[in-house]
Order: sequence, then structure tokens, then C-alpha cells
Amino acid sequence: MGLVLGIETSCDETAAAVVDHTGGVRANIIASQLDIHQRYGGVVPELASREHLRSIVPVVRAAMEEAGVGYPQLAAVAVTAGPGLMGALLVGVTYAKGIAYAAGIPLIGVNHLEGHIHAVLLEAHQEHQEIEFPALALIVSGGHTHLFFAEAPEHYRLLGRTRDDAVGEAYDKVAVSLGFGYPGGPVLDRIASTTTPVRGMFSVPSMKGNSLDFSFSGFKTAVRRWREAQSNMTAEIEKRRALLGQSSEPALDDWLALTPEATRTMISSFQQTVVDHLETNCRSALQETGARSLIVSGGVASNRGLRERLLRPAFPIPCYFPTPALSTDNAVMIASAAFPRLRRGEYSSMSLSPEAGMRLDSVRESPA
Ligand code: KG4
Ligand code: ZN
Repeated sequence: MGLVLGIETSCDETAAAVVDHTGGVRANIIASQLDIHQRYGGVVPELASREHLRSIVPVVRAAMEEAGVGYPQLAAVAVTAGPGLMGALLVGVTYAKGIAYAAGIPLIGVNHLEGHIHAVLLEAHQEHQEIEFPALALIVSGGHTHLFFAEAPEHYRLLGRTRDDAVGEAYDKVAVSLGFGYPGGPVLDRIASTTTPVRGMFSVPSMKGNSLDFSFSGFKTAVRRWREAQSNMTAEIEKRRALLGQSSEPALDDWLALTPEATRTMISSFQQTVVDHLETNCRSALQETGARSLIVSGGVASNRGLRERLLRPAFPIPCYFPTPALSTDNAVMIASAAFPRLRRGEYSSMSLSPEAGMRLDSVRESPA
């Protein structure tokens, strides 16, 4: 069956990987744009496209060199076609088309969310674990909070999604408002684990209409209110901003030294309630669907609070998380997601165009 080159440029990582049909990873290259977006406290779409344009050629070349293959030896080139930032997606799709055309190999457009699910399926396969279907798939990142029901691999039904901010976005916004750096998830997660949360500071939003939807924008507002009610908060935040001015990635101990117990308790309570919200919807979806397992993927899948909660024996079904390397955006998951389609000979045409708002549950109906 051979090798697939995967290309991912949907957000702020330019990534290329070569994966073989047994799930072996021959190359995995990621050029992160974090340092560029860091100073803006979030991803700036125009800058992202420009950086993808700069990085795509060397990143793909590095992946091919690491794998030690030439383009004609590839079975296909797979590329993220959506969802994501339009300008960013265009860079990957256009480059992948060029390779497919020049080397005379098939092109396979992949849904980014399906890629995240495949990160977990691939690692389970490598570990000889069998993930039972039907399954739930919770995708949690800076751009997405989606809960799917998967009757079988590749057959997805959207059960719920965020109505406002994505969960990682909520972490990032709360972190910036408190004077921590971007992205805020990792630092808030580590601070949360240094203290015990208290109940009642935050509440799980109750969703009218589809109760399996999510909402995270209220957390940002609740943190702002809490912040405004504290005395000395401006000075505390200024001290953290000053620390950030000295180094873009301060050590945890340095953050902790500038974060009093009251702030830590608030952060820990924020995290507890965010995890409550995610867990509650997963449990409801489980009751509704009778799913046999839960797949969690995306950058927020590395959150300690979430992992602890869903991996507890009290959680009714087995839960699978990717390793940190495959939880954030990468191209291994894109190459891996293309294999079932490659096996069926289902290719994309050269007119493949990226779709910023591509849905996962409509992918199977669209003509290949
Ligand atoms: O999947 P990813 O790398 O990029 C997107 O597609 O968005 O996810 C990055 C997001 C950021 O919002 C970051 O703050 C969040 O994931 N994140 C976390 C943690 N690690 C990363 N959020 C909470 N806890 C973490 N440990
Ligand atoms: Zn992603």
C-alpha cells in the first residue's frame, strides 16, 4: 500500500509527515508559529498564512528527507482541506496539489477534526489496543470544542459543539486577562494542580435547546468579575506581565511566586468547572447513544484535570487520549486519516478547494 505524505496548515503549525500503511511514522516535522502569535495573545490569520508560505517548502522537504523517499514513491499526498483559517488552508492545499500533479500521485483532502480522531486511532493501533465502536469523540482545542458520535470509524454525527469560545480559547483569554502568557492552557493547568478548588465560584452553563452543546464565554466574564472584585489585582497582574516581558516562557516556579493562593484557588475552580462541563456532556451523550468508548483529542486533551477525570475508574466507559506529541496539530494524523480512503481508491479531484467551515458529518456525503 505504501507511504502517504500528510500536510497540515489549518491554523498556526506548518506540518508535514510521512506515514506507512502499518501506521509506522517515517517522518514528523512541525514548524510552530507560536513565537510570532505570542505577542498578540492569539493567532493572527494574515501572519499565519505568511508564515505557512515561508515554511511549507522546507517543512515538506525535511519530512521527505527524513523518510528517505522521493515523491513518485508515495502512494498519495493527503492535506487538511478544512476546517481552519482560509488563507492558511489554501497554502497547504495548493502545495499538495502541486505535488500530486507533478509526481502523478493521488490527492486526498482530509477533515482536520477527523485527523484529530485518527491521532488516537493510530496510537491505539500501535499499542495493539482495540477501541470499541460505537464511540464518542470529544475534540477540544484552541479552535474547536466538538462532541461526535461515531457509529464506526468515518461515520460521524455531530452531537454538540461550542456556541461561542472553544475551550482552549477560554483558557487563553482567561490567561491573558490575568497577565499570563499565550497559550494559556498549559500554565493555568499546572497552577490549577497546585491547590484545591472550591465549589460555587463558577457554574456549568445550562444549555437551552441542544443540551449537548457547550459554552465557555461565561467563564471569561466570571473571571473578569472576580478580578474586578479583588484589591491589589492590578499590581499582581502587572508583576506577571513584567515577568513575561523578561522571558516568553517563564518557569512554573516563577509564575507561582507571583500568583497568590486566592488566584490559584480561582484558577483551580475555573478548571474544575470547565472539566465538569465537558464531563457532564460526555456522560449525557453516553446515555443517549450507548457508546462503548470515548476518544478525546486536540490540544486541550493534555489537560491534567480532564485526563484525571475521564480516566477515573468511575467513568463508565474506557477513554483514550493521544500522547502530547499527537494531541496538538500535526501532519501524522492527517496522513493516517487518509489511509481508509486510499484503500478504497477514493481520491479528491484537482479542483479540491479548502473549506474554512468544513463539517465532519457531511464529509462522507460529499463527492470525492
Ligand atoms: O490543538 P492545538 O495545538 O491547536 C488548535 O488547533 O487550537 O490546541 C492549542 C490549544 C490552546 O488554546 C492551548 O491553550 C490549549 O490547547 N492547551 C491546553 C493545555 N495544553 C494546551 N488547555 C488546557 N490545558 C492544557 N494542559
Ligand atoms: Zn487542531
